[in-house]
Amino acid sequence: MDRIVIRGGRPLNGTIPISGAKNAALPLMTAALLSDGPLVLENAPDLADIATMRALLEQHGLSVEHDKATRRLTLSGAATSLEAPYDIVRKMRASVLVMGPLVARFGEARVSLPGGCAIGTRPVDLHIKGLEQMGAVFDLEGGYMHAKAPPGGLRGARIIFPQVSVGATENLLMAATLADGVTELVNAAQEPEIGDLAMCLMRMGARIEGIGTAKLTVEGVKRLGGATHPVIPDRIEAGTFACAAAITGGSVKLEGARLVDLGAVARVLRDAGVDVAERHDGLQVTRLNGLHGTDVMTEPFPGFATDMQAQFMALMCVADGAAMITETIFENRFMHVPELMRMGARIKYHGQSAIVRGVPKLSGAPVMATDLRASVSLILAGLAAQGETIVNRVYHLDRGYEAVERKLAAVGAQIERVGG
Ligand code: EPZ
Repeated sequence: MDRIVIRGGRPLNGTIPISGAKNAALPLMTAALLSDGPLVLENAPDLADIATMRALLEQHGLSVEHDKATRRLTLSGAATSLEAPYDIVRKMRASVLVMGPLVARFGEARVSLPGGCAIGTRPVDLHIKGLEQMGAVFDLEGGYMHAKAPPGGLRGARIIFPQVSVGATENLLMAATLADGVTELVNAAQEPEIGDLAMCLMRMGARIEGIGTAKLTVEGVKRLGGATHPVIPDRIEAGTFACAAAITGGSVKLEGARLVDLGAVARVLRDAGVDVAERHDGLQVTRLNGLHGTDVMTEPFPGFATDMQAQFMALMCVADGAAMITETIFENRFMHVPELMRMGARIKYHGQSAIVRGVPKLSGAPVMATDLRASVSLILAGLAAQGETIVNRVYHLDRGYEAVERKLAAVGAQIERVGG
């Protein structure tokens, strides 16, 4: 099992290329189930989750080519199997995003309930209730959701989300493109990945209004064709490497990153003493002087992203003063805390709020990765710590970060992957 070994204390300087967004590419791939022409995704990242989604779509009957040299994914063909099996879905929850497209295009889907993951129970009730409002009938048995569209196909509906859900918004947006009539998604998620999916669906022939707002209006069409669409840059990868520059006291160019996609993360970094400057080809992130303890509360976009919470907590471990970090999206997203404490961090949490009291220095230690973003927060801490940090179970990392140790080594980090 691979480990990552870091010797900390070196400021990072140079340029890091930001890859295509994992959380945009995954729903974009499932959109191929809607179209009767090939879908070409450019700037696709090379990640374990992308490979898992490829395997899932191939077992549905699609042909998926991934040219890693050109970063191009080509998806074509039509689904011949309407079942998403447990052994894939349990590994990657985003697999449930095949449900809306399958029911909309083929009138039926049998998708394994994803089950929970390290950060929470991760229910899919909002996906189910939305499709039921569009006329689908569900039979939940044997750990599977068996959904059937009504004889005439899904019907447009006005769906008001009781809470913001990225995945439910994506599933229902895709289903609505081929439904009969108009669908309104109210209190829809506004993450940049939603806008990217909507833009791609429009290129395929969908009719969508309200992109970038909390109300999406979709007029169903008879069919969607193929398209070529560039995946947006990964804002969470960008935010993660911004924290790497900040925690080491360096200055790094995040090539391809877009300020608007960072939402409140940019404001919070600036409040903490980090300069985030727009450039024509990305963002220049520089630690000015000291880091200041800054409170954050995770919220749906454009609020502070929950996927940046663990990374920001690592940064606050070496800030002056204290920071209160409140996690409002997932019920168990503080698993990085005990590992950071092994490195000398001073953190106490109760329920959904953690108090971080900055310390002058962290000290390297062997630590355990538990989920994707917790893993990378331990790498950030290792970059700033005195001595050697060994991060175990890095398979979590490879799900969402492309060549993380190569990208960091290229800007001066002493970091290497050790196999076995
Ligand atoms: C997406 O997950 C992302 N994953 C997550 O990123 C991200 O943390 C999350 O959105 C929030 O931004 C992908 O895009 C593949 P939600 P998703 O539905 O869609 C509750 C990462 O690290 N909820 O917005 O599953 C849910 O339990 C991953 O890249 C219901 O109650 O998140 C949570 O509390 C981790 N019922 C809240 O809503 C539902 O039917 C937000 O979840 C659906 C969700």
